[in-house]
Amino acid sequence: MKAALVTAYGSPDVIHITEVPAPSPKRNDVLIRIHASAVNAADWRLRRADPWFVRLVFGPFRPRRPILGVVFAGEVVEVGAEVTTYRKGDRLFGWTSIMGLGGHAEFIALPESGAFARMPAGMTWTDAAAIPFGFGTARHFLSKANVSKGQRVLIYGASGAVGSAAVQLARTMGAEVTGVCSTGNVELVRSLGATHVLDYTKDDLSAFRDRYDVVFETVGKLPFKTSVDLVKPNGVILTGSEMPAQMLARLFAGKGGKRVTVIGGTAGERAADMQHLAELWQRKEIRAVIDSTYPLARIAEAHARAESGRKVGSVVVTMSDPPQGGRP
Ligand SMILES: NC(=O)c1ccc[n+]([C@@H]2O[C@H](COP(=O)([O-])OP(=O)(O)OC[C@H]3O[C@@H](n4cnc5c(N)ncnc54)[C@H](OP(=O)(O)O)[C@@H]3O)[C@@H](O)[C@H]2O)c1
Repeated sequence: MKAALVTAYGSPDVIHITEVPAPSPKRNDVLIRIHASAVNAADWRLRRADPWFVRLVFGPFRPRRPILGVVFAGEVVEVGAEVTTYRKGDRLFGWTSIMGLGGHAEFIALPESGAFARMPAGMTWTDAAAIPFGFGTARHFLSKANVSKGQRVLIYGASGAVGSAAVQLARTMGAEVTGVCSTGNVELVRSLGATHVLDYTKDDLSAFRDRYDVVFETVGKLPFKTSVDLVKPNGVILTGSEMPAQMLARLFAGKGGKRVTVIGGTAGERAADMQHLAELWQRKEIRAVIDSTYPLARIAEAHARAESGRKVGSVVVTMSDPPQGGRP
């Protein structure tokens, strides 16, 4: 099968497309023909070994798992002898798993207990590949904050993969959402369901002190002190994209005497989340936001776009060009 291999840490040029043996499913595995995947922050950060401790987890000199790709959308082509949940022909989408990766290839074998679900009828492969990372992460953090009806939630970085998903999910939870983005993305963020949109290039955030029950910082660009200023006393700050330097800065910054709960860490990968997202999508309560789509052969360009810091939603990679079997 064709796969994109990363056999050294570095710039997008380290990626090469090559033929490798297709995996064989074990007794509890499903073998999936992948139609689309995405290049997400997890992929380009791993490729660049950014932050440095990526090397401790994924390999000191090169990635131990050279096929990146933490999400997939594809169809089951074979099932192991003990598989009971899925059968040949099922269309699935979700996480491959951060420790296993493997989404940037034509086939993957995953345990049937993996963090994926059936795609709803009518969902395209590209939409299905664009949903798991941003929405899975946003759902993880918003659930931790127990977002509830009527709460005021501020999403900082509202046009990114996580941010655009967070705006939509917070809305489905009944929150009054304020999205923060730059001028060019204001209309998009409004169209995703934000009641208010602030333009960080023009609006003065300090005018909104003590206003939000939850502040979700999705892009790691807002000084922690500003998050503290924006959140109400006893509110919650979600730091979804904190790097070591920011973590350190936060510890030194303190909370200025305000009682605030700070929740960070890594998002979990759950099949139940994918099932929930499939239902929301089917009810038209959420939609995929796609920045751009590249065939696998041009995955290096997809990486460059993904790490630009300017993408809007997700960068999708298709295994065939054009993608096969878009809408059933
Ligand atoms: N903790 C976890 O488990 C977890 C999981 C997933 C992701 N993450 C982290 O979350 C971060 C975000 O990921 P992502 O994929 O959502 O990012 P992304 O899609 O690459 O974010 C791009 C967006 O960020 C916006 N942006 C850039 N500078 C900004 C600024 N100064 N203020 C506000 N918005 C700004 C851009 O909008 P404009 O062009 O309008 O500025 C662009 O639309 C990454 O660092 C990733 O590593 C963490």
